Amino acid sequence: MQARERILIALDTSDAGQAVEWVRLLAGHVGGFKVGLELVHAAGFGIFERLREAGAERIFYDAKLHDIPNTVARAVRAIARMGVWMVNLHASGGLEMMTAAAESARSVPNPPLLIAVTVLTSLSEGKLQEELGVRRGLREQVLHLASLAREANLDGVVASAQEAALLREHIARDFLIVTPGIRLADEEVHDQKRVTTPAEAVRAGADYLVIGRSVTADPDPLEKVERIVRELAVLG
Ligand code: C5P
Repeated sequence: MQARERILIALDTSDAGQAVEWVRLLAGHVGGFKVGLELVHAAGFGIFERLREAGAERIFYDAKLHDIPNTVARAVRAIARMGVWMVNLHASGGLEMMTAAAESARSVPNPPLLIAVTVLTSLSEGKLQEELGVRRGLREQVLHLASLAREANLDGVVASAQEAALLREHIARDFLIVTPGIRLADEEVHDQKRVTTPAEAVRAGADYLVIGRSVTADPDPLEKVERIVRELAVLG
């Protein structure tokens, strides 16, 4: 995969005009754009078409679906029909839910990639075990949920760079890993607890990098993207 193809820009804003502006500036220089719940709830689902008109060929809808199998499967089909390139759901919805969603996604022409979220990085091992009553340790739980996603025929998972290395040891290479929490070496970390540089994340096994503020809060987002591409290109 080409270096720039790996970069997915998170359009984290409630301002549709701002999102369109980022797409106009960066389309053709990156692999795609991530639309999250903030933008879609503020701007409505028409935002997908507006972003496509602005040049976004690949849209990752960060929907994080979690419901009973029938409901998620039907929602995935509706999302697939909107022409999104990638969409995600929570693996904790279980094997049956994920299997139904995968079958449903593939029932439309040009099916989207279906990606699972394992354990939110805002959950510590303590919270996972004490609040949510999970017996496994955090890493074991991430690996367990990723293996279930694989079994359900999903295309990959969202995982931090730390988790990516663990997943690559245990799960086949064609299972995609999408990694957020990216910062360049000299940057502010904002509210991210653990951050990784683009090159480190790819070395750990990430296929795609979700990058938000590092690019969108930069005074020159395009120059920042080109810096990231250069950093990744040396990896070959
Ligand atoms: O921190 P940054 O602005 O690069 O965040 C980019 C995106 O990654 C955000 O949309 C956020 O929801 C997502 N994300 C994250 N950390 C995680 C999981 C997702 O920042 N652990």
